[in-house]
Amino acid sequence: MIIAIDGPAASGKGTVARALAAHYGLPHLDTGLLYRAVGAAALERAVPFEDAQALAGLASVLDVAALDAEALRAGPIGEAASRVAVVPAVREKLLRLQQDFAHQPGGAVLDGRDIGTVIAPDADIKIFVTATPEARAARRHRELRERGEDVSFAEVLADIARRDARDSGRSSAPLIEAQDAVRLDNTALDRDASIARALAIVAARLAGR
Ligand code: DC
Repeated sequence: MIIAIDGPAASGKGTVARALAAHYGLPHLDTGLLYRAVGAAALERAVPFEDAQALAGLASVLDVAALDAEALRAGPIGEAASRVAVVPAVREKLLRLQQDFAHQPGGAVLDGRDIGTVIAPDADIKIFVTATPEARAARRHRELRERGEDVSFAEVLADIARRDARDSGRSSAPLIEAQDAVRLDNTALDRDASIARALAIVAARLAGR
């Protein structure tokens, strides 16, 4: 069973994906980490975001087993990830790896922006997790403050708006809801309610097969 979870920044899609993976005993890939790793490497080596060839080079030597999820989730890396993600050559380099992960025997759960549309259009279940920009910014703000990052709500909201515009407006594999995705708007839901709703969506889909 392949479960594809897509949605905008800070929508809680990672939480939902991890919970579904644990529940069904499936491997999980947070594909945002791949773009974050390329973005972090670009920042570290001062590679310009306009240099598509150099960025694709960074993507092609990515060591997926060595990704430090905690470090890659730090504030400025999200913006860098969103910038390298507009580069078609970067997406191309990361495509095969994600497709192979999705199509491993027994299935998998993947979350990102283009899982249901590009990586695994054949996924058994597609969920589009979303919430208002304000609700997402409030969550991300709380998260960053808990990590000790000194950032205002207004800055976080502006960052989310900028990333939404870039992720949805790019020409290569933009963030769009797959036609056959079930939408999970968790603006008014807490973490547990959001997970419960996702589990119900999958159970209903499996029952209807
Ligand atoms: O989900 P995230 O915030 O960790 O993702 C970081 C950036 O990576 C996001 O702004 C866009 C990009 N991304 C993408 O283009 N396609 C994916 N499947 C996952 C992430």
